[in-house]
Amino acid sequence: MNDKIQAIQSEIEAFVIADSAALEQFRIQFVGRKGRLAELFDGLKDVAADSRREVGQALNGLKNLAESKFASAQEEFAGADQSIEIPADLTLSDPLIQGSLHPLTLVRSRILEIFNRMGFSVSDGPEIETDFYNFTALNFPENHPAREMQDTFFIEKGQGEIQDDVLLRTHTSNVQIRLMQHAKPPFRSIMPGRVFRNEAISARAHCLFHQVEGLYVDKEVSFKDLKDTLYHFAKEMFGKDTKVRFRPSYFPFTEPSAEMDITCLLCKGDGCNVCKQAGWVEIAGAGMVDPNVLENVGIDSKEYSGFAFGMGIERITMLKYQIKDLRLFTENDVRFLRQFN
Ligand code: PHE
Repeated sequence: MNDKIQAIQSEIEAFVIADSAALEQFRIQFVGRKGRLAELFDGLKDVAADSRREVGQALNGLKNLAESKFASAQEEFAGADQSIEIPADLTLSDPLIQGSLHPLTLVRSRILEIFNRMGFSVSDGPEIETDFYNFTALNFPENHPAREMQDTFFIEKGQGEIQDDVLLRTHTSNVQIRLMQHAKPPFRSIMPGRVFRNEAISARAHCLFHQVEGLYVDKEVSFKDLKDTLYHFAKEMFGKDTKVRFRPSYFPFTEPSAEMDITCLLCKGDGCNVCKQAGWVEIAGAGMVDPNVLENVGIDSKEYSGFAFGMGIERITMLKYQIKDLRLFTENDVRFLRQFN
């Protein structure tokens, strides 16, 4: 018996477990219930009583040796197997590269920051809206061609319980109405958000884009306040040397209305392709809130006045980073997105 134990011990020590097939062989021979060790344990009952204890101890030592060799080899292969199971993503060029904020997010944050410092809070409202909030309350007359200025995605024609047409908002001005309905002046707020227009997608237009609108209503708010506010914004956003000009314009909800241009950032006013040789680019629509709009939401237009403005975040981002194609914002090409940190 002692000879057998000796022989098996040498065999166990010499056994090289190089792969999982060898590991299985080892298990069958030395660890399993039908292995050679189990056989020896069975033979223990035939050993003379006075040496049984000693042989038993030797056998237990052998069993421990086999089991610990098996366990450590098993651990080794388990680790190796795991690394094989996780498939490497061969399309990932550099897995250590960190993500970055989308350029539209960066510019929106900057716009909010500039207006927050001037005391503007942030207001939010629904993207699916009724005709009343998107048009009627904003002084768009029924069947007036001004409604066609903004190609609208209609969702449902008003009928039954819902009398009003349901649509995707074409501007964030709907939030102005909701704000004025539910709060008492004075208020000073900006409304960032997604807007939708039924336009063919091209380098210059998209059916989905982002706006920030602003509204300030109080006693004695004047056109000068509007100009000062937007003037300050332009200098903060585009740099101190940026020049600003206002041109007369038309919006149903403001009177008088204006559009604001800044000197083209590319040619500094000399004229180039981006500004179509004008030296100026338009960045915002603005005006004094039409008294009709104030009356529509129950604000006394003799006591209060206000200004409103609206700008496209895509347009400002394109100017700031000299991006020539609007579609880049939604294609999610990492080579594009990686440039903004
Ligand atoms: N709502 C206008 C638009 O989307 C922008 C605007 C807002 C103009 C406020 C004037 C005042 O075109």
